[in-house]
Amino acid sequence: MILGIETSCDDTSVALVDMTGAILFHQIHSQENLHGTYGGVVPEVASRAHVDVLPAMVRLAFRETSSSPSALQGIAVTRGPGLLGSLLTGISFAKGMAAPLRLPLIGVDHVQAHLRACVDSMETLRGKTIGLVISGGHTHLFRTERWPDMELLSQTVDDAAGEAFDKGAKILGLSYPGGPSIQKEAEKNALPLLPLTKKRIRTENPLDFSFSGLKTAFSLLVRKIGVDEQTRSLLAASLQQAIVSHVMDRMEQVVSQEVPTHLLVGGGVSANALLRRSLDAFAKSRGVSLHLSPLSLARDNALMIAQHGRELFLSGHYTSYPYESFSPYPRETTDVRVKKNVSHP
Ligand code: KG4
Ligand code: ZN
Repeated sequence: MILGIETSCDDTSVALVDMTGAILFHQIHSQENLHGTYGGVVPEVASRAHVDVLPAMVRLAFRETSSSPSALQGIAVTRGPGLLGSLLTGISFAKGMAAPLRLPLIGVDHVQAHLRACVDSMETLRGKTIGLVISGGHTHLFRTERWPDMELLSQTVDDAAGEAFDKGAKILGLSYPGGPSIQKEAEKNALPLLPLTKKRIRTENPLDFSFSGLKTAFSLLVRKIGVDEQTRSLLAASLQQAIVSHVMDRMEQVVSQEVPTHLLVGGGVSANALLRRSLDAFAKSRGVSLHLSPLSLARDNALMIAQHGRELFLSGHYTSYPYESFSPYPRETTDVRVKKNVSHP
């Protein structure tokens, strides 16, 4: 089995998969209620909450599957990008567990894992692939012709798309996380939308994203028309449309420029219904094969870490952490279990 651990932001998640990829255990513990009052993730609060629940979740994973750490062949852990303190809790826990068991520690790139979550197996992808990871921390476009080698084509020059949703929701007095709240509120609107930008958003790299201008335009619009029961849904729908239009503008450009065979879209914001419909219509019109992350795996989760980690492990495509230097244990002791059949990287 491979154990997957994800603690890059405000979700603590643990997964167990067997070496064929079958899912044995997967659980996500959300910290939404802790951060809700602040309207965004508070890094220190997030790290402490991971420490509180991660050990119990890992114990539960073994109990529910009637297995034990001795059945593991490796531990896959998110190595970044993410909040430093949050990442350190997961990495330190994984190191502490891997060292005495002499297990390979597979550091998994969180953004790659979001793309991995869009398909059952990366082997189904033949030909040029463009990946969009769109979440509270990222709005990144990648190109890959030989997974897992990826080239970053562009990113946001300021806020991520999810931040634009979260901040917009805060301005409207809607709950955190803002994306689902804005979507729900927007669905109530029947009025014609209000424009948030008069001209196209320009960035130095034409494929880069920028959401800060939208955010300012939105604040000014809210100040002008005020927030009440009726305008709230109109404002939410207008903001959602503006964010999705900006993303679709970049998708049109990247598809014209790169002429890919496949399009992968993952990350929390990829759960947005308007974005999914727009991408679907766009991909059909361009003859591109679209792979949207399943809704259950759009948000941060350890299953994508375990599955990507398993594939990296099987292909030998990973660098193990030099966890020896962190281990309090001497190389051979009698009271720690040493797995003999796993080659130590
Ligand atoms: O991938 P994720 O769980 O964590 C990060 O890596 O950031 O993404 C969380 C982000 C939040 O900003 C949240 O508001 C946004 O995804 N989000 C959505 C929707 N569901 C979650 N944004 C728009 N529409 C949604 N339905
Ligand atoms: Zn994420």
